[in-house]
Amino acid sequence: MNEINNNSPIGVFDSGVGGLTALKEIFRVLPDESTIYLGDTARVPYGIRSPETVTRYSFENAQFLASKGIKLLVVACNTASSVSLEAIRKSVSVPVIGVIEPGASEAVKSTRNKKIGVIGTEATIRSSAYKKAIEAIDGSVQVFGFSCPLFVPLVEEGWAEGEIAMMVAEKYLRKVKEKGVDTLVLGCTHYPLLKKVISEVMGSDIRLIDSAVETAKRTAETLKKDGLERKLKERPSREFYVTDSPERFVKVGERFLQQKIERIEKIEL
Ligand code: DGL
Repeated sequence: MNEINNNSPIGVFDSGVGGLTALKEIFRVLPDESTIYLGDTARVPYGIRSPETVTRYSFENAQFLASKGIKLLVVACNTASSVSLEAIRKSVSVPVIGVIEPGASEAVKSTRNKKIGVIGTEATIRSSAYKKAIEAIDGSVQVFGFSCPLFVPLVEEGWAEGEIAMMVAEKYLRKVKEKGVDTLVLGCTHYPLLKKVISEVMGSDIRLIDSAVETAKRTAETLKKDGLERKLKERPSREFYVTDSPERFVKVGERFLQQKIERIEKIEL
């Protein structure tokens, strides 16, 4: 195993390409940090699987990144963060940041009428992870969770805007609107790419909470608090690993990341 120090990379994993929304924010907030991203593309999607299966996959992802000598692990996948975070924390010796708590705490800060909506995959909503995290901060807040399974394939297909995206969003979000929420948590890696459509359907007065943005902020705070910020001045490295062939990941991923994906390798877990 590589020796861990300030200059070690940050590890980030997701079930596939979606976690690149969090990685993009990490690049923005922490441009001098090296990163290693793992997309478990052979086993995506996680959002329709049982907690046991997601936990097993997450454990293997975390072990792989730990073997690369990372100094901190970001679980960018909402589904994995919802059902496996405690198991992952026990399995590695570095700080682990999930996307749920940062998103939940920003939502609590944002709400005025104490009604928060959460949208995510079936597994994320079934776990009630956001609801529990929000209620742990403020027990008087009402939380309404809804799964929106078609949003993930829509975004991957490149249809995050336009007529079809609007129709699907209107259908899914009608129930959320009826609850009278003033804040909506985008509780899935892919949903930040649908912000425009979601905002149009929900109305511009509804605050959208982007868990990817909040997670990047939390990552920066944790590195600072733990004295783990990178000290080297030369250009950081940005490596990518996938568990299936890289072609589709690169094609869809460059759209998510809005930059080129250069160093990528397929691995077996
Ligand atoms: N990354 C997943 C999440 O944020 C969405 C895709 C999947 O179902 O694996 O929940």
